[in-house]
Amino acid sequence: MDRALAALAPPGLMTGCRHIQAGDEQHLLPAESASIGTRESKARAATGAGRHIAHELLLRMGFADLAVLRGRSGDPIWPAGVVGSIAHDDEMAVAVVARAGALRSVGIDIEPALPLPAELRSVVVAPRDRLGDLGTGLDGRILFAVKEAAYKASFPLDGRVLGFEDIAVDFEAGEAVTSFGRRLAVRFAVTPRILALAYPA
Ligand SMILES: CC(C)(COP(=O)(O)OP(=O)(O)OC[C@H]1O[C@@H](n2cnc3c(N)ncnc32)[C@H](O)[C@@H]1OP(=O)(O)O)[C@@H](O)C(=O)NCCC(=O)NCCS
Repeated sequence: MDRALAALAPPGLMTGCRHIQAGDEQHLLPAESASIGTRESKARAATGAGRHIAHELLLRMGFADLAVLRGRSGDPIWPAGVVGSIAHDDEMAVAVVARAGALRSVGIDIEPALPLPAELRSVVVAPRDRLGDLGTGLDGRILFAVKEAAYKASFPLDGRVLGFEDIAVDFEAGEAVTSFGRRLAVRFAVTPRILALAYPA
C-alpha cells in the first residue's frame, strides 16, 4: 500500500498509511480529541490512526506535536503553509501532506476494492462523467473515491459542500471539474485497495 500510494504522489507530496488498530485513538492529541468530540470507538480509532500518520509526516517537515484540529465541516485544519488530507476505510488509514508552495491543496480517499452497490452507483455517476473503459468492474467504486478526493481537495479552496453531481470526472484526461469551476488533476490506483488523489491542475 505504501508503495502504491507513494507512486501516485506528485512531487512534494509526502504520504503514509497505517492498519487501523484498536486503541489508535490514543494517538489523538488532547486538543484533537476535544475538537473531534464524542464518536463511537471504531470511528475514534480510525481518526486516531489518520492523525498518527499526519503527525509523523508533519514531524518530517519540522512540526513536532502539532495538533490537526477538526474544522466545522469535518475538514482537518493544517498549520499555515501546509496542505494535507486524511482518509480511512474499515481497515486502513492514509494521510498526505505537502508544503503549500508545492501544492495549493490535496484530497485523498481510500476504499476497499469491491464493486459499488448498484443503488449507490446511480447516485455517484453523473451525466458529465467520462468513465471510458477502466477495464475493471470497479469503475463505480473508483469514481466514488475520485469524487471524494476531489471534494476534499476543493473544499479548502472554495469552502463549498459538493454532491456527487457537482463533480464531473474525465478519466481519460485525468481531470475533475467542480460545479464551481475548480479544475483538479485526479489519479487512482486499484491494488491492493482503491486509492484516489486529487489536487489543483
Ligand atoms: C468528506 C467526506 C466526503 C468524507 O467521507 P467519509 O467516507 O466519511 O470518510 P473518509 O475516510 O473518506 O474521509 C474522512 C476524512 O475526510 C476529511 N474531511 C472531512 N470533511 C472534509 C472536508 N470538508 N474537506 C476536506 N477534508 C475533509 C477528514 O480528515 C476526515 O477524517 P477525520 O474525521 O478522521 O479527520 C464526508 O465526510 C462529507 O463531508 N460528505 C459530505 C459531502 C458529500 O458526501 N459529497 C459527496 C461526495 S463529493
